Amino acid sequence: MSAPTSRTAIVTGSARGIGAATARRLAADGFAVAVLDLDEAACKPVVEEIEAAGGKALAVGVDVSDEQSAGAAVQRVADELGAPTVLVNNAGITRDNLLFKMSVADWDSVMNVHLRGSFLMSRATQKYMTEAKWGRIVNLSSTSALGNRGQANYSAAKAGLQGFTKTLAIELGKFGVTVNAIAPGFIETDMTAATAERIGVTFEQFTEAAAKQIPVGRTGKPEDIANTVSFLVGEGAGFVSGQVIYVAGGPTD
Ligand SMILES: NC(=O)c1ccc[n+]([C@@H]2O[C@H](COP(=O)([O-])OP(=O)(O)OC[C@H]3O[C@@H](n4cnc5c(N)ncnc54)[C@H](O)[C@@H]3O)[C@@H](O)[C@H]2O)c1
Repeated sequence: MSAPTSRTAIVTGSARGIGAATARRLAADGFAVAVLDLDEAACKPVVEEIEAAGGKALAVGVDVSDEQSAGAAVQRVADELGAPTVLVNNAGITRDNLLFKMSVADWDSVMNVHLRGSFLMSRATQKYMTEAKWGRIVNLSSTSALGNRGQANYSAAKAGLQGFTKTLAIELGKFGVTVNAIAPGFIETDMTAATAERIGVTFEQFTEAAAKQIPVGRTGKPEDIANTVSFLVGEGAGFVSGQVIYVAGGPTD
């Protein structure tokens, strides 16, 4: 389903991983895509790939947890690419530790990127959506929202994003804006590779062990999530709002 090229989508944390796959997919769907990440230079390869495939994209450096930075990035997207009416809050970090070893800095940085970042980006972007009487926000939650050892901070942030999603869906629905969350299971990215390293196993051992626990018998790829984002931001999903879609290769509880 292709969107009019006049529509602009922002994908945060899209220099790599799930965000990069989502940026490429939305560009293929016909959106002009703003590729946002901490380091603008790191966004350029994704932008070049999109342009080489005939799409339109812009690299923007941002720290989503910083009010000024988030506001300036959204303004730049509006000026240089067009009013953003799709926002994918994907930027994320992990700072895993058991509760007794978790520092306040580990707690705060995870809350700041996921929760404060999604709040700041949504607040800065919503006016373009309500003005257009059309919009789509997709927040990246996680199966960790249901509880995961060593992730008190991340789990709380990802569960928080589900409440945030439902509340925005209630507030923005009358403006033609839908708001949904995707809760991925195990997806092969640098984030899960870093977890394997932290617990001292190879990435191959880690994914093999994970796949055994997953009903479809494999771990997820960034494209599995990009496909679901593509559905949620498309015209056909206009009556789907306030939902959390678990994309995990099986039921989650
Ligand atoms: N990989 C998984 O198994 C998995 C599972 C469930 C949920 N998720 C979620 O999906 C999203 C993407 O995960 P991924 O696996 O692609 O991770 P990743 O680490 O590969 O990519 C995350 C990106 O976010 C960027 N980022 C971090 N802090 C930022 C900030 N303050 N401002 C802007 N950008 C920032 C990073 O630079 C990085 O490019 C995250 O929200 C993650 O929590 C991932």
